[in-house]
Amino acid sequence: MDLTDQERAADLDLDQLKQLVGLVEYDENKDVFPVTGWDAIVFVVGNATQAAHYYQSAWGMDLVAYRGPEQGERDHKSFVLESGSIRFVVNGAVSPDSRLADHHRAHGDGVVDIALEVPDVDRCIAQAERAGATVLQQPEELTDEHGTVRVAAIATYGETRHTLVQRVNATGDGSVYAGPYLPGYVAASSTYAKRDGAPKRLFEALDHIVGNVELGKMDEWVGFYNKVMGFVNMAEFIGDDIATDYSALMSKVVANGNHRVKFPLNEPAIAKRKSQIDEYLEFYRGPGAQHLAVATGDILATVDALRTEGVEFLDTPDSYYDDPELRARIGEVRVPIEELKKRKILVDRDEDGYLLQIFTKPLGDRPTVFFEVIERHGSLGFGKGNFKALFESIEREQDKRGNL
Ligand SMILES: [Fe+2]
Repeated sequence: MDLTDQERAADLDLDQLKQLVGLVEYDENKDVFPVTGWDAIVFVVGNATQAAHYYQSAWGMDLVAYRGPEQGERDHKSFVLESGSIRFVVNGAVSPDSRLADHHRAHGDGVVDIALEVPDVDRCIAQAERAGATVLQQPEELTDEHGTVRVAAIATYGETRHTLVQRVNATGDGSVYAGPYLPGYVAASSTYAKRDGAPKRLFEALDHIVGNVELGKMDEWVGFYNKVMGFVNMAEFIGDDIATDYSALMSKVVANGNHRVKFPLNEPAIAKRKSQIDEYLEFYRGPGAQHLAVATGDILATVDALRTEGVEFLDTPDSYYDDPELRARIGEVRVPIEELKKRKILVDRDEDGYLLQIFTKPLGDRPTVFFEVIERHGSLGFGKGNFKALFESIEREQDKRGNL
């Protein structure tokens, strides 16, 4: 198993990544649709200029590339930000006639593209066509003075797409694209100066992205990832596992061969009141990416830094930490439970180890996309033991918004 160029550039090592995001060994040659890892998470937002500032100032990301009217792109602006091995691209309409403005009117701030790096775009598209996927863009080469990439795109849930990006050997000569992002983008550097003593970065990698789909559609999308993209099923949480007194949901998790890319897929389940998934589907106007989990090796420092910058997290009642059952179940973790309680960080343990996690409030104006910060110690799960506490916390916020 090899590091990706992004991971190498971010000074990550393989052992660290195995722990951070639960990487596993696998045989790429037997994969019908080999995926190396994440390429970029592309957002459409109402104001990309300000969002780019937020991701730098609050989330400690570095601005690395840009494209806009100055480069001849009169439709929209794109800011490319990095933290460790993960890249975000935030797009905002410049032209009032931009399609992005229509997208934003319908969906609000959200993820439009979960772009994946692949070793062979053409092989993936051939497989996607065989398996009946919707191909949005046939393979094409993009070239500038830094080299060539080969890209294509397939549709996934809602108006979300997977752009497939081949950065290595796109022209068959073994070269690697050397530009700051994609052809047409220019290098940019942060306009925001980090505070003295601020950590180098607040997260090292992306762990998973959860997709919310409509009632009855979860298995269809699990099937899509299995059949089209050769993803494997990781874990399964159904029914009572994630029900509170009021709302319920079902969730299944698929992952690519090396587990860099993990997609839990949720659908609402019938319950007494409106579930958080129903609220999302109503305000996003359909299926979409619900939360992005960013991986850190020091969740305490990350959460402290995020709180200093004003990032708001879901609350967890003290009773969660004082529950003797929880204390017995989680056993010893690397920090005293009082430190977790102070920061409202949740903890879960399974047969492989434990994880620490915390969830932000929605990032934008609509109650849709939010972030999770996760620190894994052996556990390959998603915090199943915390689902009830998490959902009760979300429901308290839903109730305040008048949406429960
Ligand atoms: Fe999660």
